[in-house]
Amino acid sequence: MERLDKYLASRGTGSRREVQKLIKSGAVSIDGAVCKLTDAKVRADAAVTVNGQAVGEKYVYLMLNKPAGVVSATTDKRDRTVIDLLPAGYRRRGLFPAGRLDKDTEGLLILTNDGDFAHRMLSPKKHVGKTYVAQLDGAVTQEIRTRFAQGIVFADGTKCLPAQLETDAEKGENTGIVTIYEGKFHQVKKMFATCGRKVVHLQRISIGNLYLDSNLPIGQCKSLTFLEIEQIFIGNIH
Ligand code: URA
Repeated sequence: MERLDKYLASRGTGSRREVQKLIKSGAVSIDGAVCKLTDAKVRADAAVTVNGQAVGEKYVYLMLNKPAGVVSATTDKRDRTVIDLLPAGYRRRGLFPAGRLDKDTEGLLILTNDGDFAHRMLSPKKHVGKTYVAQLDGAVTQEIRTRFAQGIVFADGTKCLPAQLETDAEKGENTGIVTIYEGKFHQVKKMFATCGRKVVHLQRISIGNLYLDSNLPIGQCKSLTFLEIEQIFIGNIH
């Protein structure tokens, strides 16, 4: 059971102070009955309305097509963050990026306020596959592919898990499509650097079985259902 003011604030109705005012004004009903008590207890399955409108879900899952130039953080002193890109209605929902993309990396980023889900997705034990399209300053050779498949070892001795590296005839030999099953800092760039290649552009296109919507313009987000988001865990290799 949750306090009514907290219940409304966590579902995007307004700040705690705003919702307390709303409740006292008689705008809020629980199961059809007006409730003016800010600390009334709300059952998880209760139907709560504000001015007759049903209150939204507690958890939000967004797919963002991240542009280059913004950081995967909730606040930053210097740079714009992925939260700054969201429509105003989402900015007070306590969203955070589930995982990080580098400032110059584009593509699929999940934003949520569901900490348990984010933890599950990011757990190193889950080995969720993340696929990137990397444009390189040279060709993807058979030797590089083999090194990726065996597991790249960085100069400092850090071992990466085996990764898949493919090319696509349409994209040409300087583009690698790489799937990794962990999330070390600057991992894809460092894996290619170990093989003598510089990544000149990086885009994430999928996480598990969840693919970046090709109709989603760069910088825009769209809401996902919990069932859509569960695609992330389908087809895990481990
Ligand atoms: N690997 C990188 O090097 N950068 C990213 O943003 C993601 C994976």
